[in-house]
Amino acid sequence: MDNVTTQTQDKPIVFESPVPKHVGFIMDGNGRWAKARGLRRSEGHRQGVENLKEILEACGEFGIKYVTIYAFSTENWNRPQAEVSFLLSIIDYYIERELDNLDKQGVQLRHIGELDGLAPRLQRKIQKAIEQTRNNDRLILNVAFNYGGRAEIVRAVKQIVAAGIPAEEITEQTISQHLYTAFQPDPDLIIRTGGELRLSNFLIWQATYAEYYSTPVFWPDFNREELRKALEHYCSRERRFGGVKDEE
Ligand code: FPP
Repeated sequence: MDNVTTQTQDKPIVFESPVPKHVGFIMDGNGRWAKARGLRRSEGHRQGVENLKEILEACGEFGIKYVTIYAFSTENWNRPQAEVSFLLSIIDYYIERELDNLDKQGVQLRHIGELDGLAPRLQRKIQKAIEQTRNNDRLILNVAFNYGGRAEIVRAVKQIVAAGIPAEEITEQTISQHLYTAFQPDPDLIIRTGGELRLSNFLIWQATYAEYYSTPVFWPDFNREELRKALEHYCSRERRFGGVKDEE
């Protein structure tokens, strides 16, 4: 495979094989980051949002086309009420502050997850952001908000049944095409910060063959250099998709 050179603001970074097309981020460790500094957990989430800017810019520079971020899971409703409210307000704040900037950078914002269950005002705001950026194509940013992988599959099955598709015609592709990420490439790489080794209901169908990279670095500290390391690791992996290496 050809080497890929990515021109960055500082110096070109050479990866030994193509960078992933689609990267998913499980942005974990905000609470521990805050606790380690004697701060409130909400401060960790706030810092996590700040960090997103640097990482999205770096993804663009490195040539990654699709990014999915796990911002609020269906399980996150079980957190204390005050933290849930704060997390719900974060997306509002993020759209308010970053929408025009993301739009200028050619980012297409998409939402994956259940919009129902969010306040009508927030739903409208998310829909407006999607509408405003729908023709951008430099980077596709899926924001998983009120998202759960199992619920996504259940939703897909219901849609397939409702469409009257006969059982014998249902293939893996049928399922894929009824997920929120329909017609996007599956993630090649899932990065989880904060050290845990699990998917936590994130893109469980789509990430079947993704490389998984876990780092102990907490999300607010996961910077461009940490992303470069993750991509270097990805480029050094040999992906076989259940097959074997080319015969020698
Ligand atoms: C996990 O950290 C992180 C979250 C539940 C929320 C992550 C959200 C953001 C970084 C901002 C979202 C951005 C947008 C655009 C809405 P944790 O609280 O589980 O950390 P801990 O494991 O250290 O407790």
